[in-house]
Amino acid sequence: MKHTQPFLALVLTAAAALGTTTPHSDFKVALSSAPANVTTRRMRVAASRTSSESLQDYFDGTDLQWYGKISVGTPPQDFTVVFDTGSATLEIPGTACGSACKNQHQFNTSASTTFVDKNSSSTLVFGTGVGVTPVNGTNWQLNVSLVADTVSVASLTVKSSELYLITYQTPTFAVDPFDGIMGLSPDSKAFFNAGGYRALMGMLFTPHNKGGAEVTLGGVDKTKFKKPLVYSTSLVNDDWQLESLGVYVNGQTTSLLNSSVPLYFDSGTSNMLFVEEIALAIYSLISPDILPNDDEPGTFGISCDRISKLPAVIDITFAGVEGHPPFNLTIPSSELSSGPFTDKPELCQTLINVSEGYNLVGLSLLKHYYSAWDMDVPQIGFSPNGF
Ligand SMILES: *[C@@H]1O[C@H](CO)[C@@H](O)[C@H](O)[C@H]1NC(C)=O
Ligand SMILES: *[C@@H]1O[C@H](CO)[C@@H](O)[C@H](O)[C@H]1NC(C)=O
Ligand SMILES: *[C@@H]1O[C@H](CO)[C@@H](O)[C@H](O)[C@H]1NC(C)=O
Ligand SMILES: *[C@@H]1O[C@H](CO)[C@@H](O)[C@H](O)[C@H]1NC(C)=O
Ligand SMILES: *[C@@H]1O[C@H](CO)[C@@H](O)[C@H](O)[C@H]1NC(C)=O
Ligand SMILES: *[C@@H]1O[C@H](CO)[C@@H](O)[C@H](O)[C@H]1NC(C)=O
Ligand SMILES: *[C@@H]1O[C@H](CO)[C@@H](O)[C@H](O)[C@H]1NC(C)=O
Ligand SMILES: *[C@@H]1O[C@H](CO)[C@@H](O)[C@H](O)[C@H]1NC(C)=O
Repeated sequence: MKHTQPFLALVLTAAAALGTTTPHSDFKVALSSAPANVTTRRMRVAASRTSSESLQDYFDGTDLQWYGKISVGTPPQDFTVVFDTGSATLEIPGTACGSACKNQHQFNTSASTTFVDKNSSSTLVFGTGVGVTPVNGTNWQLNVSLVADTVSVASLTVKSSELYLITYQTPTFAVDPFDGIMGLSPDSKAFFNAGGYRALMGMLFTPHNKGGAEVTLGGVDKTKFKKPLVYSTSLVNDDWQLESLGVYVNGQTTSLLNSSVPLYFDSGTSNMLFVEEIALAIYSLISPDILPNDDEPGTFGISCDRISKLPAVIDITFAGVEGHPPFNLTIPSSELSSGPFTDKPELCQTLINVSEGYNLVGLSLLKHYYSAWDMDVPQIGFSPNGF
């Protein structure tokens, strides 16, 4: 596929872990399986330390995926991971994964003096109907084992931090240009505090041609945005989920769209996922000719020679925090196209897929803002980044 979007699966690692069936609680199930109990190791929090890590853009026609470096073990072994606000655990390949992970760096447990095996293995089966390769039984699966070791991101270092080593992965994962996934749900607060950092993170996803994408730990990088951050409070404590008060398309709404729905904010997913009735309502305000692509269930498309001419400005309204007015986050028309479908190159994929029962925005929205993820409340703040 010209334009691969593997990150959807990342979110749904969470979604499908342990084979749950209710879409909303899917996320929670994965979160509750978070291995880290670093609260027991909490140090006195200095609260003023910050450090930043630059992100690489996995540019493949569109700017929708970023990843950065972490290190694990003593001495440190380096890995690239997606910093994923849609999940809660850290997974990297171990040498036990062998040829199944041959394109990735693999953690050598014997080479780390601080490694501890927790002697517990499990399987994460991905259960979504979407992704570059369609889900078919267990064709998206990670076998993992629970371990603990020193984990560092930029200058934030936490000893005896629990993580999963991937011992086997299905071939569907082989295309990923990164090694693993670092979940950063609000539950990561314990990880930040254990490293002596405030549980606050800033994220900047810049286009390929600008560079300079970064994640900042322990604070925000005030040099990267101008307008004050406007915040909205998460609906739940253990997940990044804001209440959308309504959706406008090219300034218009409908009675269905002008109503409140919970919306996940996921830095590990490229585009957007809405339940079918909302997806259809949004598309019908853009063009009646955007139709489902039955070859890839859940996706929609329109002829590529028309897509660049369609206005498709999507404004989503959120409640401000107490004492502050509602605000819009805007996805510009340039995000409408996710590029041609592999099997039907004349048909261009549009940015919203249909989900099973939840609504989610990803990088096609986040890349237009500097975002601040405050795990203590939790709340997310936004300031336009000018891209
Ligand atoms: C995590 O640590 C806290 C504080 O020591 C303890 O009360 C709790 O039982 C621990 N939880 C797990 C799952 O080990
Ligand atoms: C792992 O590290 C050990 C100890 O440093 C070394 O002997 C071994 O060759 C390494 N294994 C791999 C697969 O790199
Ligand atoms: C895991 O098993 C090994 C070998 O039996 C043992 O040495 C080690 O202490 C165990 N780790 C934990 C955390 O129990
Ligand atoms: C799903 O996998 C099964 C077993 O591997 C295979 O027989 C079947 O053709 C696959 N279905 C699709 C739609 O690819
Ligand atoms: C992965 O886990 C599944 C389910 O436990 C098991 O059937 C399979 O054999 C495992 N694969 C490998 C390569 O360990
Ligand atoms: C959000 O955008 C719509 C137009 O798309 C506008 O009507 C509405 O007033 C805006 N809301 C806020 C809070 O700015
Ligand atoms: C949206 O709903 C609110 C009440 O929830 C109403 O006041 C407002 O007029 C509606 N806006 C539109 C454009 O229908
Ligand atoms: C939508 O589905 C396509 C095709 O399966 C996939 O490539 C893409 O990642 C999906 N996007 C989202 C946001 O789910």
